[in-house]
Amino acid sequence: MSAESLKTISTEFTNSNLELLYTADEIRTRVAELGAQITREYANGDLVLVGVLKGSCVFLADLMREIDLPLHIDFMAVSSYKDGTVSTGDVEILKDLTNPIRGKDVIVVEDIIDTGLTLFRLMEILGSRGANSLKIATFLDKPDPRVKTELAIDYCGFQIPNKFVVGYGLDAAGRYRNLPFIAVVKNPSEA
Ligand code: IMP
Ligand code: MG
Repeated sequence: MSAESLKTISTEFTNSNLELLYTADEIRTRVAELGAQITREYANGDLVLVGVLKGSCVFLADLMREIDLPLHIDFMAVSSYKDGTVSTGDVEILKDLTNPIRGKDVIVVEDIIDTGLTLFRLMEILGSRGANSLKIATFLDKPDPRVKTELAIDYCGFQIPNKFVVGYGLDAAGRYRNLPFIAVVKNPSEA
């Protein structure tokens, strides 16, 4: 492929509808801090990271490589029922864990917590399965729209304002998960 044609197609990361919020370097530094903290706190644990598909895949992949301990990973996929655009808190399990978590030290890994309704219900479901401990690691925390204020967030990458963000696994209608940075979508209707 010629340099000229490459220039024509390579516009996703420089899309004018995106405003940079956290660079790939800032993300790497913060994820390394979280990984070091988890490494210290789970030194005697039997750690399982549970990624919530699809958004957490990039964060999980980076975080696990910053945790210098024996660990396993597993995944869940859930769909939250929405009443229009508002989350109702009803959750359907689309894909359950492959292995039991009884006796394990589980960290649920999320991309972003917004109202908290989806994760609250997921924690209720996982909480009934006999894990030794159950904690939450989210890459982003958007506290403003929080409905479930009682949801305890144990590890958080960044707290952000109430804006719609994409990249690093987060999407707008399926797009932008591959951005290596976090950006605010300036005009969500054009996303
Ligand atoms: P909630 O906490 O139940 O409201 O749902 C959180 C889910 O909504 C996340 O896992 C994301 O899939 C999605 N979400 C919330 N805010 C954003 C955002 O700013 N960008 C992309 N997805 C978001
Ligand atoms: Mg999600």
